[in-house]
Amino acid sequence: MEFVRDGMIVGVGTGSTVNYFISALAGWRDRITGAVSSSEASSHLLRASGIEVLDLNSTGSLELYVDGADEATRHLQLIKGGGGALTREKVVAEASRQFVCIVDDSKLVDVLGRFPLPVEVIPMARSLVARSLVALGGQPVWREGVVTDNGNVILDVHNLEILDPMALETQINQLPGVVTVGLFARRPADVLLVAGDSGVQRVDR
Ligand code: A5P
Repeated sequence: MEFVRDGMIVGVGTGSTVNYFISALAGWRDRITGAVSSSEASSHLLRASGIEVLDLNSTGSLELYVDGADEATRHLQLIKGGGGALTREKVVAEASRQFVCIVDDSKLVDVLGRFPLPVEVIPMARSLVARSLVALGGQPVWREGVVTDNGNVILDVHNLEILDPMALETQINQLPGVVTVGLFARRPADVLLVAGDSGVQRVDR
């Protein structure tokens, strides 16, 4: 909350960690202009908290984006999309001047990839993209029954040891049928807040 300023339009991520942020933001509902949300789930919670949800097309760039992650390194590169909201999260992160990522210390890793890497894919390309991901050395698993807010499907790629996150992000992004890969390396976080037993540690980019 120390990053939030009066009058701001705040970019808001998705997930159980961000839900705490939304609760805290509710106390500021009369001081901020509104929020740009990264998912239908967060939009619902924001509106229920009395915070207006604005369209990114009409707000322009944002000062601040706050979101969680499934894995984070000390270089502030992330895996996101465990909750399936990766595409809108990446859009809002890209549109924001400062991306503050909030995690607990169980999410901190030296090398990304222990958490299966989510990839949002248009439905007709599911098998095609899965074969390409196997060729890249991963084991894609279709997250059956899940349809994203954008009407697409998710492949979770297991057994990747991501030694060059920027290169892999570019490579997977270029596969026809891929909407978004949940690697946030080209646009990493700017500030990482890591909660642990001894308090909150701040890592800056
Ligand atoms: C949503 O798609 C994700 O990117 C979340 O930001 C991530 O999964 C973290 O969620 P939790 O805070 O629930 O662990």
